[in-house]
Amino acid sequence: MNLLPSGIFFYLSVAMCWLTSHVDASWWYMGTIGSQVMCDNIPGLVNKQRQLCRQHPKVMQAIGAGMKDWIAECQYQFKNHRWNCQTMARDHNLFGRLLLRSSREAAFVYAVSSAGVVHALARACSGGQLDSCSCDPTKKGSSRDAQGAFDWGGCSDHVEHAVRFSQAFVDAKERAERDARALMNLHNNRAGRKAVKRFMTLECKCHGVSGSCSLRTCWLALADFRLTGDHLRRRYNGAVQVAVDQYGAGFTAAHAHLKRPGKNDLVYLEDSPDYCVRSFESGSLGTGGRVCNRTSRGVDSCEVMCCGRGYDTSRVSRTTKCECKFHWCCAVHCQDCHLQVDLHTCKGQT
Ligand SMILES: *[C@@H]1O[C@H](CO)[C@@H](O)[C@H](O)[C@H]1NC(C)=O
Repeated sequence: MNLLPSGIFFYLSVAMCWLTSHVDASWWYMGTIGSQVMCDNIPGLVNKQRQLCRQHPKVMQAIGAGMKDWIAECQYQFKNHRWNCQTMARDHNLFGRLLLRSSREAAFVYAVSSAGVVHALARACSGGQLDSCSCDPTKKGSSRDAQGAFDWGGCSDHVEHAVRFSQAFVDAKERAERDARALMNLHNNRAGRKAVKRFMTLECKCHGVSGSCSLRTCWLALADFRLTGDHLRRRYNGAVQVAVDQYGAGFTAAHAHLKRPGKNDLVYLEDSPDYCVRSFESGSLGTGGRVCNRTSRGVDSCEVMCCGRGYDTSRVSRTTKCECKFHWCCAVHCQDCHLQVDLHTCKGQT
């Protein structure tokens, strides 16, 4: 968990509680006493968060369950990079001491995690898992889009509710701090939430004579989280380095030639480390042991990935499907083939 900032540390704790609770499910349903016990034992919560946690244990559970999705999305977006959003399984008591520089990567992690919370909550609402919300109640009656009139029907994902809760809960920690880093986190949290809303789409079902679509019922649905991930990844590429303005309330661009950040931009305060070597202070795991691609010329090439330290090559056996034959009708039967492939891994620092 080396790279995750302290705000995230909290979600991890929630997830751990959730995972534990999965083994012993009754623990979650102990009612108020149970949620009090749980919420008191998540380290790093500010008072406001502890309160919300106690009042909404099921919401916490939904947030914890959604966590693996945004972590997976972060790792997907950066899988071929020196920084790969890798979460290191280690004693979670250490998390509180971990530092992550106020870098572009921190900006991404905050944005994708707050987006993930919104996504998970909105889905939990429309999935009927929470008492405090369900489908979006404002999506009723009739409306119009480019193709004409339609009736609201089905269940629209209640993203506004999810945004409000996530804002109250996730931002509470930063509101308690009010320093430059807190401003940065708040901005990126909001950019993440906005990114989820951007990809809501109208889904419709046609009715009418022989599918003529003269009548439509539609609902507003969250898109696949990948779209949010891709979007935030582009924002990461264009992230703006900022400094806090003289009033300590907003940002100015850190360099004169940079544009002022908009609400959808990710912002960061400090340059990233190169992530080549393991460093606790900068939140870098280093690239020793990472797999690299000898023929690539990109960021996953052995030159770039291994930071010039060189790499080791080992022969490993891979099993693939081969000699597939089509059988009439309709099945495909394959053999398992064992291939020897070369695997290149970066040398560690000496
Ligand atoms: C390595 O990079 C080459 C060139 O970009 C690419 O064609 C190939 O699929 C990559 N190999 C792996 C294992 O990713």
